[in-house]
Amino acid sequence: MNVTLTVNGTQRTITVESRRLLADVLRQEFNLSGVHIGCAHGACGCCTVHVDGAPKLSCLTFAGQCDGKSISTVEVLGGVEAEHPLQAAFRSEHGLQCGYCTPGFVMTLAPFVDDRVAEGRMPDDLEIREAMSGNICRCTGYHGIVAAVRKAIGDRLAKGTQA
Ligand code: FES
Ligand code: FES
Repeated sequence: MNVTLTVNGTQRTITVESRRLLADVLRQEFNLSGVHIGCAHGACGCCTVHVDGAPKLSCLTFAGQCDGKSISTVEVLGGVEAEHPLQAAFRSEHGLQCGYCTPGFVMTLAPFVDDRVAEGRMPDDLEIREAMSGNICRCTGYHGIVAAVRKAIGDRLAKGTQA
């Protein structure tokens, strides 16, 4: 089947088998190695991308389901050259060790951070932990990740910016 995807702002039509997973298509056809596959069955959140702006597990999504949709991966959110504030907070608050889970956490939590900033409020730790409850980190523990989310929100609230 032919599928037209707008991936990180670039539209492309590709031919895929109907059983082909979005995670595999993004990694293999679009060369986006920031889409990590941990469990391949919806348990770890490593493969989280945004589909039309909402976090989605790309290992449980067929590419064919995304025809006509916009996909964003961690590559467009930020990187070494231009860190997203949440990525910077992960670094400063020790929210990662090996980093394998980090793209998934960042893609899951970036909209959460945006929403809380838009509301002008700092969530409590329970709310943050609930927001990231679909993501598993196998090495660093979760305290640093919660601290990173708090820092990313706090910095923006202090600046009075919604961007
Ligand atoms: S690889 Fe998709 S949830 Fe684990
Ligand atoms: S930092 Fe290694 S799995 Fe999370």
